Amino acid sequence: MRIKRLLSLCLLRVALGQTTAQTLGDVLTGQSATLSTLNTWLESQQLVYAMLSNAQGVTMLAPSNNALSQLTNTALATQLGEDANLLTAFLSYHVLNGTYSISDLSSGLTTTSPVPTLLDIAAYSNVTGGQRVAARSQNGAVTLISGNGAQSNIESSDFSYVGGTLHIIDSVLTIPAPLSTSLITAGLTAAVGAMRRASVESTLNTASDLTIFAPNNAAFNAIGSLVADMTDDQLSAVLSYHVVPGRVLYSELVAGGGRAGTAQGANVTFRAEDGGVFVNSARVVQADLLVGNGVVHVVDGVLNPANSTATPDPTASTQEPAFNGATSTDGGVPFTSAVTLSGTPTITVSGIPVSANVAPMRTAAVGVAALVGGAAVLAGW
Ligand SMILES: *[C@@H]1O[C@H](CO)[C@@H](O)[C@H](O)[C@H]1NC(C)=O
Ligand SMILES: *[C@@H]1O[C@H](CO)[C@@H](O)[C@H](O)[C@H]1NC(C)=O
Ligand SMILES: *[C@@H]1O[C@H](CO)[C@@H](O)[C@H](O)[C@H]1NC(C)=O
Ligand SMILES: *[C@@H]1O[C@H](CO)[C@@H](O)[C@H](O)[C@H]1NC(C)=O
Repeated sequence: MRIKRLLSLCLLRVALGQTTAQTLGDVLTGQSATLSTLNTWLESQQLVYAMLSNAQGVTMLAPSNNALSQLTNTALATQLGEDANLLTAFLSYHVLNGTYSISDLSSGLTTTSPVPTLLDIAAYSNVTGGQRVAARSQNGAVTLISGNGAQSNIESSDFSYVGGTLHIIDSVLTIPAPLSTSLITAGLTAAVGAMRRASVESTLNTASDLTIFAPNNAAFNAIGSLVADMTDDQLSAVLSYHVVPGRVLYSELVAGGGRAGTAQGANVTFRAEDGGVFVNSARVVQADLLVGNGVVHVVDGVLNPANSTATPDPTASTQEPAFNGATSTDGGVPFTSAVTLSGTPTITVSGIPVSANVAPMRTAAVGVAALVGGAAVLAGW
């Protein structure tokens, strides 16, 4: 009798032990006040749900009910309903490869270097090791930064489950768009116009693992007198000097100083001085813009491969152009006339969320082949 009771107590312990190891489904159900929309949606997407539930050592960034309701009537919601690859990419991007608690995400490790996600479908990510999400921490609150500089706040955190941990976010992450689409969205129309004139746009859009230093429109304007007379080859050489091929240098590497070889052949030099970060003599005015095939840092000057020793004046608010004698002209910002904010036929935004305000998520008929294949279905990539 006693032995039997002891035995059933043991069995009860075992049973309890198993139930304390929650599944992803347990967390979603337990947090139904904020995660019921995601739960309902995943339950209708059994294959994706199984993939997410089986992933080990991960951090699920779960959009809240409110976050998903913001997608109502968006183009993104329609596309997610129609394109299984996009749906897989979108969800994979919401899963960090690694178990990161909220304190991990607010510590130096992840706030200096963007964190890899499970998004590695070639059509959406040409970044070795998976597309990244950046984390920024202020006063204990963690903000995640995704494509187009989109910000999502973690509103509650550290729901452990068998596959890792889950944090609830207040808006969905944006999959980083192709390079030139991202540049246009960021208002860097002169850089895109120059890429088109030099016929390097598609090469840059499809190369993997790039670091791009993208001059802003004011930077191109400041050397307007010169660029008008450049041949396409000269322009191409100048643009190539803004590209570090095969290395994705997120901001902490640039801020760490040193040099990097460019596609043009000459090196660029990185400096951190007086609180600013410089590439040759140009100041980095926006760091870590995540794009489909790497990272963009926006700079306030056009870099000159024939002036690779140019040094900044860190105390000046604007830098001398790195091209001797160049001035701005009255003719408007160079290269921008051919670039409109809505894009041109060479650019597709198909499948890439650009804005976040649009149909409730429709459920997709997801085929196994589509999920495991992840073929590049998007033209223009
Ligand atoms: C996750 O990261 C590990 C290395 O830390 C890597 O081996 C694995 O392939 C990554 N998984 C995915 C799906 O990218
Ligand atoms: C990714 O990069 C590789 C190597 O540069 C290239 O061949 C491929 O077309 C790129 N994929 C996409 C979708 O741009
Ligand atoms: C670039 O810098 C490296 C050192 O960082 C040096 O070894 C190399 O010779 C430089 N290349 C050119 C083309 O100056
Ligand atoms: C090199 O850049 C500096 C600005 O950093 C500029 O003053 C100088 O005129 C440039 N030299 C040449 C040869 O373009």
